[in-house]
Amino acid sequence: MTTYAVTGATGKLGRLVLDELLARTDAANVVALARDPSALADYAARGVRVRQADYDDPASLDAALAGVDRVLLISGNAVGQRERQHGAVIEAAKKAGVSYLAYTSVLNAQASKLLLAAEHVLTENLLGNSGLNYDVLRMPWYSENYTGALGPAIEHGAIYGATGEGRLSTATRADLAGGTVGALLNSPGGKVYEFAGDQSWSMAEFAAEVGRQAGKPVQYVNQSEPDYAKTLEGAGLPPPVAGFLASTSYLAGFGELYSDSKDLSTLSGRPSTPISQTIAAALKG
Ligand SMILES: NC(=O)c1ccc[n+]([C@@H]2O[C@H](COP(=O)([O-])OP(=O)(O)OC[C@H]3O[C@@H](n4cnc5c(N)ncnc54)[C@H](OP(=O)(O)O)[C@@H]3O)[C@@H](O)[C@H]2O)c1
Repeated sequence: MTTYAVTGATGKLGRLVLDELLARTDAANVVALARDPSALADYAARGVRVRQADYDDPASLDAALAGVDRVLLISGNAVGQRERQHGAVIEAAKKAGVSYLAYTSVLNAQASKLLLAAEHVLTENLLGNSGLNYDVLRMPWYSENYTGALGPAIEHGAIYGATGEGRLSTATRADLAGGTVGALLNSPGGKVYEFAGDQSWSMAEFAAEVGRQAGKPVQYVNQSEPDYAKTLEGAGLPPPVAGFLASTSYLAGFGELYSDSKDLSTLSGRPSTPISQTIAAALKG
C-alpha cells in the first residue's frame, strides 16, 4: 500500500487533487495536510486521513509526513516566505524518508521573467540539492484567472490587458489536478513536466469568444503595462497587486505563459478544457 500526502489540501487546487486521488485510489491511502484540519471535515468523513501541518511549523510537518511514501507539495501563497516554507516541507520529507515528492512550480520556471518565478526557482534549486527523488510540475496560469469577473467586461464590451498578441496556454485547476495526480500516482521521478493547456489562445480571441457567448460584442483593448496597471487600480486593486498583474500580462505578450508541451494531457489521460468551455461555465455561474 502506498501512502500519498497532499499539502495545501484546503486550497482550490488541493481540493480538486483530493477529489482526483479519491477517484483513483482508496481514501485510506490519502493523507491531507491542513493548517486547520476542521476545514477538511468533508474529506475526513470520506476516509481521508487529515493531519495538521503549517509550513511555518517544521515540527508539525515532521509529524504530518511520518509514514508517507509520496508527497505533493502545493506551493504556498505567502509571497516572500515561500523558499523558507517550501524548504521546511522538503526537510520534513527527507526526514520521513519519502520515496517521491512532486512540487508545483511555474511554466518555464528557470527561464521565466515573471516576477513570481524567482521563488519557484529557489524551491526547484532546494529540491535539486535535497537528494530526494522528485518531479517538478510547472503550472501555467489558471484559465479561471481570466473568467472570474466577466460581468463588467460584458457590460462595458471591453477586456483590458497588456499582452498584445501573445498566446496563453492556460488550463483549469481541474485539468491541473488531473495531471498532478497522474504524476503523484505513476511518475518515477527525475522529471520536469511543463503543464500547459492543449490549445493556446490570444486575448483578442478570448474577448471575441466571451462576446459570442454573451451575445454582445466584447473587444480586447491592449494597453501599455503602466496604463493597464492604472486600469486595474481604477477597478479597485491595491497598487502592488495591480503592478504585479500588469507585469505578468505584459510579459505574457512575449510568450512567458505559453508552451506547446502536451505533458498535462498525457499525464492526466484526458484533453485539457478549451477556454470556450471555461467561459461557458463562468457565464452559467
Ligand atoms: N497557476 C496560477 O494561475 C496560480 C494562481 C494563483 C496561485 N498559484 C499558486 O498555486 C498554489 C495553489 O493554488 P490554489 O488556487 O489552490 O491557491 P489557494 O486556494 O490560495 O490555496 C493555497 C493553499 O496553501 C495553503 N497554505 C498557505 N500558507 C500555508 C502555510 N503556512 N502552511 C500550510 N499551508 C499553507 C492554504 O491553506 P489555508 O487553507 O490554511 O490558507 C491553501 O490550502 C497557490 O498557493 C500559489 O502558490 C497559481
